[in-house]
Amino acid sequence: MAVGFDMPLRTPTAARPVAIARGARTNLALLAFLTVAFFTGWLAFAYATTPARWSLVVHAAGGFAILALLPWKSMIARRGIGRPRPRRWASALLGVLVLISLVAGLLHSTGLAVYWGPLTAMDFHVGAAIAAVPLAIWHVAERRIRVRPTDLSRRSILRAGAVIGGAAVAYAASEVIARATGLPGAARRFTGSYEAGSYQPGLMPVSSWMFDAIPTIDRHAWRLTAGGREWSYDELLASDDRLTATLDCTGGFFSTQEWAGARLDRVIGKAEGATVRVVSVTGYNRRFPIDRASSMLLATRFGGQALDPGHGFPARLIVPDGRGFWWVKWVSAIEVDDVPHWAQPPFPLQ
Ligand code: HEM
Ligand code: HEM
Repeated sequence: MAVGFDMPLRTPTAARPVAIARGARTNLALLAFLTVAFFTGWLAFAYATTPARWSLVVHAAGGFAILALLPWKSMIARRGIGRPRPRRWASALLGVLVLISLVAGLLHSTGLAVYWGPLTAMDFHVGAAIAAVPLAIWHVAERRIRVRPTDLSRRSILRAGAVIGGAAVAYAASEVIARATGLPGAARRFTGSYEAGSYQPGLMPVSSWMFDAIPTIDRHAWRLTAGGREWSYDELLASDDRLTATLDCTGGFFSTQEWAGARLDRVIGKAEGATVRVVSVTGYNRRFPIDRASSMLLATRFGGQALDPGHGFPARLIVPDGRGFWWVKWVSAIEVDDVPHWAQPPFPLQ
């Protein structure tokens, strides 16, 4: 049964309906801020250019607004937990996940704890947020709230404005404090990422999108299929196009390296089509508009040394201004066709 604020009250007092109407507004505001935080987080992941920063400003303000609402929400939750409702534990789990996401986000942004063993604070931040989504949908669907005309009154709108304004000020203050106190977070890039191992290939962190594991590849057996023919490793190694580019990983670090290899347009040759699809030995793949091929590199080396398996040996794609998940590793095929480049999930699913 869907339970809403229109339910008969167990102890009808004059004060109670007011408290409940306030609860509805808090819940609605929470829904709005959670949605904003979730989508602006992904929007920021989609860019390695300026839109990432704007998205993260809104994202962080949304996160601070959720923090501001916590005292009110904990009152609603305390009242609700006391009711004999099935699966209350799932609401509590939702609370734990949202708290993990908030704390991990703040630990990352302040720089107080960026790496947690083999994982990063960002992995926990995004992982907990994704895990919270089905619970949040269930939570809201099971507890229908009734929007009343007073919820959109001038007073409510002013209050919402105050929460948003307060959250924006709190975010700005946190950035100023981070700089004034020299917190490591002050040094992060506009994407929120931290510098790691730039121009020192041996110190560059190894990371892969989700479940892609590092394959073992024999340099003599490996072949690249591209431009209507097969390339051996030694053939590709002979190419010496160079590009200095920054890999900005959604795991929360960035690393600038001097990459060397073959420009992508030289590898695909005269092949005609709208899209170039770069495929890994693992099956991982990404599509790009063909006119970007001349700005991308199929790298075999970085910082004067051959790529190692973790960084994509024998060959990996270098995509200036593209987040790390575009930089396909362990490339085995490059295909040109007419499938539009946008006909792929915005983020890889494997
Ligand atoms: C429950 C949903 C989420 C909440 C409440 C939330 C909240 C936050 C908070 C409070 C911060 C710290 C902001 C700061 O002090 O700068 C943060 C940082 C961040 N979040 Fe989220 N977040 C959520 C989901 C996501 C998702 C799904 C993504 C990506 C797909 C994401 C990406 C990021 C990134 C990249 C940062 C670092 C920003 C920076 O350091 O400048 N977040 N988030
Ligand atoms: C940060 C996300 C949220 C958390 C952690 C959370 C947590 C909780 C908890 C622990 C309870 C009490 C136990 C229960 O009823 O199962 C509760 C009650 C409730 N929540 Fe949430 N909630 C969240 C977001 C929302 C949103 C977005 C809405 C609606 C738009 C909502 C609507 C309600 C309602 C209507 C109740 C029942 C209150 C009562 O029975 O007095 N919640 N919530």
